[in-house]
Amino acid sequence: MRIIELEEVDSTNEYCKREDRGEDLIVTAKRQIFGKGTKGRSFTSDDGGLYISVMKHYSDFPSFQTFKIMVNSCVAVCKTLEVFSAKPIIRWANDVLVGGLKISGTLIENSFSGDKIVRSIVGIGVNVNNCLPTELDGIATSLCKFTGKTVDFEYFKSVFISNLKKEFTIEEYKNYMPWLGGEAVLKIADECICVRTIDISDDGRLIVDLNGRTEIISAAEVSLRL
Ligand code: BTN
Repeated sequence: MRIIELEEVDSTNEYCKREDRGEDLIVTAKRQIFGKGTKGRSFTSDDGGLYISVMKHYSDFPSFQTFKIMVNSCVAVCKTLEVFSAKPIIRWANDVLVGGLKISGTLIENSFSGDKIVRSIVGIGVNVNNCLPTELDGIATSLCKFTGKTVDFEYFKSVFISNLKKEFTIEEYKNYMPWLGGEAVLKIADECICVRTIDISDDGRLIVDLNGRTEIISAAEVSLRL
């Protein structure tokens, strides 16, 4: 797959959309001016972090398997962080944490035709050597801060890109969720609800016990506090 390495861009996901000529692409940038997060939020994207989008086109990818894309991305992040001596966990559905703080997020933008995915743009940000703004103290960290040393960025990037080309299973994804089976707080709109987490369904929804009732939650509805 062709790799385009940019100095600066608004957002690597947006770049993929603009430059889509039907070719599968990997786009990286040293910094993003308008890094996009999930739920319409922004994503801090200063120098030293890894900002990458993988654009793929499909002819026969059933939409019921959409969650596989998230699985591959999150597990690739975790496997890469482990090479650098970190012990990552996944906070459902798309955050990777190290030492309890967010180190990576994924924003997936899919295009559909009928019940098929025809294009996916998987945008991943990993805090590698970047300094984070003080407002993210206690919320986010970087690999550099966590390990106490500057990370060989090019090596990190090459390990990550090779992991992104692999396929992982939902079991592997769940193996990075040691919290599964325990208590968690779901934030739905402005309300916080205590639940016992049970499992992740094959289509990526969170199965919880809420006051003795089993509920199945879609990622879009909630944010999870562990
Ligand atoms: C999140 O945690 O809310 C998702 C963050 C996704 C950030 C990545 S960085 C590369 C790609 N380009 C973007 O604008 N966003 C994604």
